[in-house]
Amino acid sequence: MKLAVVGGGSTYTPELIDGFARLRDTLPVEELVLVDPAADRLELVGGLARRIFAKQDHAGKITTTTDLDAGVAGADAVLLQLRVGGQAARNQDETWPLECGCVGQETTGAGGLAKALRTVPVVLDIAERVRRTNPDAWIIDFTNPVGIVTRALLQAGHKAVGLCNVAIGFQRKFARLLEVEPGQVHLDHVGLNHLTWELGVRLGGPDGENVLPKLLAEHGDTIADDLHMPRKLVDRLGVVPSYYLRYFYAHDEVVRELGTKPSRAAEVAAMEKELLEMYGDPALDEKPELLAKRGGAFYSEAAVDLAASLLGGGGSPVQVVNTYNKGTLPFLPDDAVIEVQARVGHDGAVPLAVPALDPLYAGLLANVTAYEDLALEAALRGGRDRVFKALLSHPLIGQYDQAEQLTDRLIAHNREHLAWA
Ligand code: G6P
Ligand code: MN
Repeated sequence: MKLAVVGGGSTYTPELIDGFARLRDTLPVEELVLVDPAADRLELVGGLARRIFAKQDHAGKITTTTDLDAGVAGADAVLLQLRVGGQAARNQDETWPLECGCVGQETTGAGGLAKALRTVPVVLDIAERVRRTNPDAWIIDFTNPVGIVTRALLQAGHKAVGLCNVAIGFQRKFARLLEVEPGQVHLDHVGLNHLTWELGVRLGGPDGENVLPKLLAEHGDTIADDLHMPRKLVDRLGVVPSYYLRYFYAHDEVVRELGTKPSRAAEVAAMEKELLEMYGDPALDEKPELLAKRGGAFYSEAAVDLAASLLGGGGSPVQVVNTYNKGTLPFLPDDAVIEVQARVGHDGAVPLAVPALDPLYAGLLANVTAYEDLALEAALRGGRDRVFKALLSHPLIGQYDQAEQLTDRLIAHNREHLAWA
């Protein structure tokens, strides 16, 4: 089995390699190609990746290349984890929206739109090149904004599934609190990427007993603290929102907070510098502790599980992924991309049925889906007007003067990445 990782020079990659090494029985990788335009990073990350495999006696071969076509040729699955414009572009996404009183975040609000506009054309080009060399290859998209990017891929007819680690993070956390094996915990995880709620927590299987009320009664404080949300809010909802919902439920509070500290991009850039220095040390042969400070915990496990199921191996039969709605949430278009539990196999992902949703969640999902629709239009076709409309439609924006100011800033800060600007 051959896998290619586009954006393989990322400092995240050792997390993935560690997962491939530990979970080799689930996903027997024979050849792994790390593809990245940044040759210097690739060399450092590739070196450590080989040492991790060697230490764990993994016989798989790891190669690196800056040549995308050569790297993906013959791959059974291609993982996308690239970041167009790197942390510098992310830093912009997190900064200029604050000038207009809006949250500065890489996937939510105006910053998320900027990221979508930069990313969709690049990802579509990569996917097209993958399809040319290997039409049967699966594309696993971890590149943000995952909902919009996955929708772009599916609309263009690619064999793609979107992946995020929010659900697996909750699964592991709840398993710890409940003192059970993670595989025992099934989440009624519903929403769009980075806009989800855990409506139930089931033991033993997707139809098992719902222990969420018990979990909230016994560990409500821990759960709410982790989300930086008040316990009272979580109790009133009776469900567990993802931490990305804080940008909605506590928008103004977050804007104030963000104004008083360095951006996450700046923090990550400093961490990356340190990590790359560590990766250059030939004595290092495992993923360093520092990597745990990144947001990608358990990403490798989720990716291994998904790839194993898509490639016909031994992954979990039900996993949380991003795929076409196709009637699962009846108030959304069939071609919206949603993030829910799905049956995953060789033919892709089929969402499990979801009970009728409270308007409290359905309303926000419908609104953000409409935004994602307009965002994808803007990413595919360009133009100031489309950017403006996408911003105006966003529930965290909605006012014309703010949308105008954000449009100007988005274009000014992203000109080099936007072919039409
Ligand atoms: C979580 C999200 C990812 C996001 C990451 C950011 O893992 O699910 O989509 O890319 O956080 O983490 P970072 O360490 O870059 O802030
Ligand atoms: Mn994510």
